[in-house]
Amino acid sequence: MKHSSNSALLEEPVVQTAKETLLVGLDLGTNTSALLAGSPKSSDISIRETIPSIVGYAKDGILDGVLPGNATMLFGHDALKRKLYLNLVRPLKGGNIADLASARHFARHLRSRLTVNGNTEIRAVIGVPAKADPAAREALRQAFTGVFDKVLFIPEPFLAALGMRDESRLGDADYADPVRNALFIDIGGGSTDLCLMRGYYPLPEDQVSSTFAGDAIDQHISTSILQMYPDCQISLHKVCETKERHSFVMSPETQVTIDLVVAGRTRQFDVAEQVGAGCDALLKHILDLARSLIARADPDAVPELLQNIVLTGGGSLIRGLGVALQTLLIEDGYENPKVSVMGPNYKEQVARGALKAAHQAKDRQWQTILR
Ligand SMILES: Nc1ncnc2c1ncn2[C@@H]1O[C@H](COP(=O)(O)OP(=O)(O)OP(=O)(O)O)[C@@H](O)[C@H]1O
Ligand SMILES: [Mg+2]
Repeated sequence: MKHSSNSALLEEPVVQTAKETLLVGLDLGTNTSALLAGSPKSSDISIRETIPSIVGYAKDGILDGVLPGNATMLFGHDALKRKLYLNLVRPLKGGNIADLASARHFARHLRSRLTVNGNTEIRAVIGVPAKADPAAREALRQAFTGVFDKVLFIPEPFLAALGMRDESRLGDADYADPVRNALFIDIGGGSTDLCLMRGYYPLPEDQVSSTFAGDAIDQHISTSILQMYPDCQISLHKVCETKERHSFVMSPETQVTIDLVVAGRTRQFDVAEQVGAGCDALLKHILDLARSLIARADPDAVPELLQNIVLTGGGSLIRGLGVALQTLLIEDGYENPKVSVMGPNYKEQVARGALKAAHQAKDRQWQTILR
């Protein structure tokens, strides 16, 4: 018997294609963001991106052909490369969203880096600064509404520890599991976050946060250079670049010579003292914060905790910071402390931890946000 096309549709079993899921780990940094993604069925990472957290809006009256494809908005490295023609906006400040409109644009850009079909459900674990308040979380939720389907916010230092954890060594007697008992110190651009790891998601009392971080060091160095050499002109960008190349703590003999412009002419200046003073101020600050957090740890856990102090974030790359912190802790009477530094690949650790957390998350833990 011949069926009409309608009855054929009614009689044939409806084959539902299972909805695909993509898991995302995101470190939304003040300075730089890291994005990792993969399928829930495998631990492989299919998408890996590190993008400066910056949006550039085309300046008014820009001529045709100056920006690629006459773009009105560029992101990350593309924006920095063409900064002369753009109004640059950083969506985050101090680790939190400071400009919701550009944060939404940036979030959409991140989404565009994920090559998936429209039917795929995207579940993202997003790192939040230690002690992010409800308003900060709400701003994040709004920024990612319409971008991801489900989100889960987890403190960044915890994700850094999870990212660093070597699961293959968990049974080893001599393996110091960073998630079980450690002190994480994450020195970013906008915030320095310290967090005690005690084997569970950190509580507010396990964390301290401060806005004295990379951007504040730049400001500190810039102010002291201008105090010393009032006639010179120096941008914060140049200060930051100088700091990243020459940062150090506690070595007064280092020389740092840079070219600066004075009344249109370039001259050389030694700014070692100013760079060192900015970095030393950070060292003193993190020592104070570390002391206050160690005092909150369970006394029985302290000896092992002191063996597992980890510096991470861009600020941890300051030359000599780990050794200097360890020395100051010893001078302060702490028994046998051991400070390690995550190293130059720190940037992916939070996102890596976020992706691991996404794999482990139970269905009920995800928050649904409208797409
Ligand atoms: N070698 C270096 N020496 C000193 N500071 C550095 C070095 N490399 C990077 N930084 C600084 O580290 C900061 C960026 O760190 P990071 O990438 O961890 O920040 P973020 O995660 O984007 O910010 P946040 O965590 O505050 O949101 C910047 O201030 C940068 O100048
Ligand atoms: Mg960070």
